[in-house]
Amino acid sequence: MKTTIALLLVAFAGIQAQIGIPCHSNIFNFTPRHNLNISRYAGTWYVQEVGSSNIGNFPQPDWKCEKHVYSAPTETDPPTLSVLEVYVNITDGTTFSEDMPISVNATRSPMSAMWRKTSGVDGDLESQVFIMSADLEFATWTIMYSCAIHKPFFFRREVLMAMTRSRTIQPDLRSFLKALMVGGGFRIGDQWSIDQTGCTN
Ligand SMILES: *[C@@H]1O[C@H](CO)[C@@H](O)[C@H](O)[C@H]1NC(C)=O
Ligand SMILES: *[C@@H]1O[C@H](CO)[C@@H](O)[C@H](O)[C@H]1NC(C)=O
Ligand SMILES: *[C@@H]1O[C@H](CO)[C@@H](O)[C@H](O)[C@H]1NC(C)=O
Repeated sequence: MKTTIALLLVAFAGIQAQIGIPCHSNIFNFTPRHNLNISRYAGTWYVQEVGSSNIGNFPQPDWKCEKHVYSAPTETDPPTLSVLEVYVNITDGTTFSEDMPISVNATRSPMSAMWRKTSGVDGDLESQVFIMSADLEFATWTIMYSCAIHKPFFFRREVLMAMTRSRTIQPDLRSFLKALMVGGGFRIGDQWSIDQTGCTN
C-alpha cells in the first residue's frame, strides 16, 4: 500500500496546475447528499466511472476491478467507519488493498455526508470525502467526491467517482451517472470508465 501512494504521487506530481491549490472545503461550493443514512450506505460499492479536475491531464486508469467496502459506522461522537479499497493493477496484474479509517464530520444532515479518510504511510494522507448523491435507498448507485493534498509537493488530487452496488452496470445507468458527475458543480476534466470485467476480487 505504501508503494501505491508513492507511485500515484510520481504519476501526478508533474501536473503543475494542481500544486498548492486547496481542496474545496466550503460546503457552499458543493452540496453533499442530505439525510445520508451511513448504516444503509455502508457495504460494497463498485467504481464504474472516475473523473478529475486535472482537465486534460487525468490519464486513463491503469487499474481495474476497483471496489470499496465501507464498514458499518461505530456510534461514537462523531461516528467512525472504515473503508477497504481494492483494485487490480492492469500493468503488472497485482492486487492492491488498503483499509482506511474514516471519521464523519457530524451526524446531522448534510454533515453526515462529509467524511475524512486517513491513509498512506503512518496515516499521513488525509482525504476529504463528500457523498454527493445516491439513490433513495442507497441500494443502486452513488456519486462520491474525494480530495487529498499529496506532500511533499502539495499536489491536489481531486476525484469524482460513480459507484454501483452491482458489479455490472447497464448503459443507461452509466449515462445517467456520467451526466450527474458533469452537473455536480465540479469542473470535470477527463472522465474514464473503470473496467469491472473478469474480476475475482
Ligand atoms: C501499476 O503498476 C505499474 C508497474 O509496477 C506502476 O508503474 C503503476 O504506478 C501502478 N499503478 C497503480 C495505480 O498502482
Ligand atoms: C438507517 O438505516 C438503518 C438500517 O437500515 C435503520 O435501522 C435506521 O432506522 C435508519 N436511520 C434513519 C434515521 O432512518
Ligand atoms: C466539518 O465541516 C465544516 C464545514 O465544511 C468544516 O468547517 C469543519 O472544519 C468540519 N469539521 C471537521 C471535524 O472535519
